[in-house]
Amino acid sequence: MHEELHRLLLDKIERQELDLPLLPESAARVLSLSATGDWDSRKLADLIRSDQTLAGHVLRVANSPIFMPRSPIVSLRQALARLGLATVRQIVLVIACQTKTFHVKGHERKVRQLFQHSLCVAVFAQELARTGAHDVEEAFLAGLLHDVGRPVLLQQILDLALSRRIDLPEPLLDAWIDDLHASVGAALVRSWGLPSRIADAIGEHHVDGPSAPPLTALIRLSDALAHYALDTNALGEHELTVHPMLQTLDIASHDVSDMIGRKKQILQMVGAFV
Ligand SMILES: [Fe+2]
Ligand SMILES: [Fe+2]
Repeated sequence: MHEELHRLLLDKIERQELDLPLLPESAARVLSLSATGDWDSRKLADLIRSDQTLAGHVLRVANSPIFMPRSPIVSLRQALARLGLATVRQIVLVIACQTKTFHVKGHERKVRQLFQHSLCVAVFAQELARTGAHDVEEAFLAGLLHDVGRPVLLQQILDLALSRRIDLPEPLLDAWIDDLHASVGAALVRSWGLPSRIADAIGEHHVDGPSAPPLTALIRLSDALAHYALDTNALGEHELTVHPMLQTLDIASHDVSDMIGRKKQILQMVGAFV
């Protein structure tokens, strides 16, 4: 019975018949705004204001200790003036993914942990991108979405199992998701029209190999760092400082040690959202 369900799932993936979610609308609109210029700042404020829930979330995150507001931020205008357009854009993106894509009814705890991990990868990727002169925003986005195939597959498999009245044991469900999430995630972000560099990094983040395109290498290293920071299937500190992707990225061992030393601060940034 389980094999039949597995075959059905693989078949659906192969024929591109999975019911893939749309890119959350606010995320799509934010991505279409460039990160500079007063004009875009006004557009961003309008976009956030048009969604009351989003506006509330943005203010809550903007007031979290990591952004160190000297006094409470009470309006979007203040948030934009004090945090800057790029940060507010990022906050909107994270909230949109969190509420729309990382959301599976009945599996809130699992998906919340997954989102925490994803955000942790995003922050490590962003910080590493700064040291290695890579595109910081692209690194953050790729990190945030690197495991997006997981919640999407979880929902799809649960729906399939329900429609066939099959009770699927959790370890089997997890194994299928482990196996398929990278390729499904890549297909998803491709369908969203995001740059193919991001789709490739997502599709290949679990492939072992000595070399990889820079963004893919960055996500592999950040994934390992996030597992270390959150204490899940972690490599040791030494293994991280000699990670095979360092050479590709032109990042030195001591940069990774610095990153490990900033673990607490990075977890605080993640904690501002989840
Ligand atoms: Fe993954
Ligand atoms: Fe991951």
